[in-house]
Amino acid sequence: MKLTILGGGGFRVPLVYGALLTDRGEGRVTEVVLHDLDDSRLYAVARVLAEQAATVPDAPTVTATTDLDEALRGADFIFSAIRVGGLEGRANDERVALAQGVLGQETVGAGGIAYGLRTVPVAVDIAQRVARLAPDAWVINFTNPAGLVTEAMSRHLGDRVIGICDSPVGLGRRIAKVLGANPREAFIDYVGLNHLGWVRGLRVAGRDELPRLLADPDLLGSFEEGKLFGTDWLQSLGAIPNEYLHYYYFNRETVRAYTEVERTRGAFLRDQQAQFYDEMKRPDAAALTAWDRTRAEREATYMAENRETAGAGERDEDDLSGGYEKVALALMRAIARDERTTLILNVRNQGALSVLDADAVIEVPCLVDANGAHPVAVAPLPDHATGLVCAVKGVEREVLAAAENGSRTTAVKAFALHPLVDSVNVARRLVEGYTEVHPGLAYLK
Ligand code: G6P
Ligand code: MN
Repeated sequence: MKLTILGGGGFRVPLVYGALLTDRGEGRVTEVVLHDLDDSRLYAVARVLAEQAATVPDAPTVTATTDLDEALRGADFIFSAIRVGGLEGRANDERVALAQGVLGQETVGAGGIAYGLRTVPVAVDIAQRVARLAPDAWVINFTNPAGLVTEAMSRHLGDRVIGICDSPVGLGRRIAKVLGANPREAFIDYVGLNHLGWVRGLRVAGRDELPRLLADPDLLGSFEEGKLFGTDWLQSLGAIPNEYLHYYYFNRETVRAYTEVERTRGAFLRDQQAQFYDEMKRPDAAALTAWDRTRAEREATYMAENRETAGAGERDEDDLSGGYEKVALALMRAIARDERTTLILNVRNQGALSVLDADAVIEVPCLVDANGAHPVAVAPLPDHATGLVCAVKGVEREVLAAAENGSRTTAVKAFALHPLVDSVNVARRLVEGYTEVHPGLAYLK
């Protein structure tokens, strides 16, 4: 079984490889191909993987290449985890937006649109190559903004591309834990778009346990989302929002916090990772130790500004291990071995959420087996959530159109229609600012 990782020199690749090393079952991945545009990043990550594999018998082989077509040929699974424009691009996404007084986050608001506009053309090119060179492969898309990028790829790959994100999984796990339920036995009634969804119920043995949580302020205030959003607001909503909704519900505070911070998230990660990749150039460096130290610091500071704004304090120990790699492995196993399971994934709607059309990629619980991921029909969202989901899907569609027709006017429309961009003039200035700093947006005319 051959797995190709696009963005193979990326910082989180060792998480995926670490998960593969735990898989001893039949039909497991035996061959990993890393693809990246940058040789030195491939070299750095390959060093970490070699140290991870050192004590494991029959570890999957690892090869690296900068030739995309070669990487794709013969792949059974393709993970796409690329970052167009690198972390410097992410820092610029933040900076240009904040200069206009609006949110510059990797996936939400103006920053997410800018990142989407740069990434979609590259993702489409990859999808077209996959369709030609590896038509039977399953593509697992990690690349952010994950919902939008998955939808762009699905226009060429249909249901053979599946988007993943670890935040709904982490949310479900936290809720199950405070309720004393086993996350494996719980059905998480979650729906929305990527980074824009809500848990409306958690069923164990046919009984919804969420009302018990919502009725208990102590329980509600004891985990990440309770601290971030406040118990009163969660009770008002009658649902638990994905943590990324903090940028919507507390937009003014998060924009202010981002503006005041010494280094934005992207700038922090850019500097932190530059140091790691530099260190990997030293032949005597302890690769795995350096990687793990860097990872731990990244996890501990995740959404630090949001938590500070909310007075939420440090992250819970259990939340530091992520889950990114576990979702990917669970998905691959379910498909490769026909091990039927339920996972929250980004797939084409196909009627599951009736307010959106069949081709809209949504984030929803799916039944997964050898035939792929099948969305489970869900109850409608309340009007306020439907409004947000439809507005943001409308923006995503403008981004896809701008990427397809290369139109600057359409790009302005995408920014202007976003609920977190408060003026058409701001949208115009954002397009000016972004096209000045991003070579990847030169196609907008
Ligand atoms: C969460 C999100 C991902 C994001 C990751 C890392 O898991 O769901 O989409 O990539 O956090 O965020 P960071 O700010 O550390 O890059
Ligand atoms: Mn995510």
